[in-house]
Amino acid sequence: MKIKQQAIATRHPEEDIKERSLQLRVKAGHKLESEEEMTPRYREVLIQTMLIAADLELMTLPSYYGALCMAPTLDDKIAVAASIQDEMGHAQVMYRMLEDFGFDAQELIMERSPDAVKSFELIEQDVGDYITCVVMMALGDRAGYTTTRDLEANCSFGPYARSLRKVNFEERFHVAHGERWVKYFWQHSSHARQRVQAAVDLLFPMAASWFGTPDAMKKRTDQLTYNIRGLSNDELRQQWLNEVVPFCESVGIEIPAHFDRELGRYVLSYEEPIAWNEENKKWDFDTQITWPEKFAHWKKGGPIKRSGLERIQSERWGKELW
Ligand SMILES: [Fe+2]
Ligand SMILES: [Fe+2]
Repeated sequence: MKIKQQAIATRHPEEDIKERSLQLRVKAGHKLESEEEMTPRYREVLIQTMLIAADLELMTLPSYYGALCMAPTLDDKIAVAASIQDEMGHAQVMYRMLEDFGFDAQELIMERSPDAVKSFELIEQDVGDYITCVVMMALGDRAGYTTTRDLEANCSFGPYARSLRKVNFEERFHVAHGERWVKYFWQHSSHARQRVQAAVDLLFPMAASWFGTPDAMKKRTDQLTYNIRGLSNDELRQQWLNEVVPFCESVGIEIPAHFDRELGRYVLSYEEPIAWNEENKKWDFDTQITWPEKFAHWKKGGPIKRSGLERIQSERWGKELW
C-alpha cells in the first residue's frame, strides 16, 4: 500500500505540473513549435483536430465530382476543377503535417476504410450540378472557412496555424465564387431561382450542423482548453449565421434563420435537431428528433461517403474525369 502511494505521488504530480504549465502557456498566447513541447493529451487532441480537418478536405473531392462533370461551360468546369485542386492541396498539407506525428499519408488516404474517415453530412452529398455547387460554396465552404479561420487565428500549434494561411486565402475565393454565381442564377430565370432555393433548403440545415452539437451538450472542451481552437461550437455557428443570413436576405433567398430582436443576434428559426424525411429528401423543420437519433443519422453517412471514398481509393479519377 505504501509503495503504491509513493508511485502515485511521484508520477501524477509531474504530469499535472506539465499539463498545468502547458495550459497556462497556451492560454497566455504561447505557440508550440514541436512535438517535444506537448503533453500526451495535447498531442492526442491536436491530432484528432488535424485528422478531421484533413478528412473534411478530402471528402469535398467526390462531393464536387458531379458538378465538375455537369458544369455547363468550359469556364465553369475550370472553376470547379480549380476548387477541387485547392481542396486536394488543403488535404495534402494537413496529411503531410500528420506524417510528422507518425502517420502515413498514403495509408490515411488510400487504405483507410471509409467508415474510419470522419466527415460531416454536408459534404457527404452529391453536389450533382453547378447550381447546387455554387450554393454549396456560398453556404458550405463558408462553414469550413469559419472553422479554418478560427484555427489560423488561434491554434496554439504554430506550424498548423501558419499552414492555414494559404488554405483560407483559397477558401475565401471559393466562397466569393459561390456567392457571385448564386446571385447570378437567382436573377437568371424563375427555374434557376427555384433550383437555388431548393439547394438552400437542402443544404442550409446541414451547414448549420457543421459546427456540431450546442455548447451546452459538449462534455469535452479540450480543444478550447488547449487553445487549439479559439471559438466554441455555438460561437462558430453564430459567426457563420452573421455572414450567411445577411447574404441570403440581400439576394432574396428564403432561409430558416432570422434576426432575433430580443436576443440581438441571428438565430435559427427551428429547434435542433430536426427530422430528415428520407422519402421526399427534405428536412422536416416542424418535427424534432432526439440527439441520439441525430447521431445515428450522421453515423449512417451521406449518399456519397462510401462510394466517393472508394472512387478515390481505386484511383478512377484520371480516365473517367471528363
Ligand atoms: Fe478546403
Ligand atoms: Fe473550399
